[in-house]
Amino acid sequence: MKVLVTGSTGFVGQYMMDFLIHNNIEFLGSARNSMDNANIVNMNILNTDDVDKVVKDYKPTHVIHLAGQSNVKLAWGNPQATILNNTIGTLNILNAIKEHSPYSKLISIGSSEEYGSSSEVLEFIDERHVTNPKNPYGVSKLSACQLVLQYVAAYQIQAIHVRPFNHIGPRQSEGFVTQDFAKQIVDIEKGKMDLAIKVGNLDSVRDFTDVKDIVNAYYMLMQDGCVGEIYNVCSSRGVSIQELLFEFVALSKSHIEVKVDPSKFRPIEHKFIVGSNEKISRDTQWHPKMDLKESLLNILNYYRNM
Ligand code: GDD
Repeated sequence: MKVLVTGSTGFVGQYMMDFLIHNNIEFLGSARNSMDNANIVNMNILNTDDVDKVVKDYKPTHVIHLAGQSNVKLAWGNPQATILNNTIGTLNILNAIKEHSPYSKLISIGSSEEYGSSSEVLEFIDERHVTNPKNPYGVSKLSACQLVLQYVAAYQIQAIHVRPFNHIGPRQSEGFVTQDFAKQIVDIEKGKMDLAIKVGNLDSVRDFTDVKDIVNAYYMLMQDGCVGEIYNVCSSRGVSIQELLFEFVALSKSHIEVKVDPSKFRPIEHKFIVGSNEKISRDTQWHPKMDLKESLLNILNYYRNM
């Protein structure tokens, strides 16, 4: 195996590289700024010369395409950059594979936001669920998915499209719910903030998986995922943001008060996004292993040790 990991300095990219190192698998990371790391090359996914050169020179057996803009709230603020990076970026990878390395197996990373599930229907979303994204981020990922499937059909590109649900773990950037909650709780513990943490919408229900389980799923899909298929990666367990907050507060000895901050709400919010992981479990035997409480404690401890 020779794995090209795009977006290798991002949250999931770092865990993917750790996983490949740990399992003695040859890889090359790419990032907009390689930061003098011998395992990482400079590659801007919007620069087709960059992308062509890396794919042509390295000729990976597998490409895991993680580079992109992953924040739903930021996508509302900058939809152009989100569509460019997520949709055109994926198109550039597809074209480079088609021209220079047609036998590479591509794992394209989409999102559960492609489904844009109805807020009224509380159901486990499987891969046949209707897609009707409700924000620019979901549109950018669904467009990428459709391009991937077209390239599989038209040019026999060996690609799989993945729809991960919420993933969590230490080192994720701020602006995602577990980081926003954990950082404020630890700031209170350290006496840097007064007693109240600011939170957004606590009513929504999400499906959280630890990033270590996520990268293991991507690896299993590289090996056993069927070309031309879409796979959810999720825990199939719904947790309300209110419950998540309770779990965090219970893991702290400090007295924590909660203040709802309307500026943290989004223009459109999905009430319930919980997936079915039946298909990936069937095709690859993947099952998430990490317990939610353990993941939350790891995130708190990361901020505590900073
Ligand atoms: N970020 C954040 N900060 N979200 C909050 C907060 C807060 O202080 N308070 C409540 N929330 C609510 C959000 O309104 C949302 O309903 C939920 O917590 C989760 O928010 P995020 O962690 O920002 O994730 P997301 O669900 O919008 O998107 C994530 O999951 C997608 C897959 O479902 C991202 O990781 C995407 O990249 C991913 O594709």
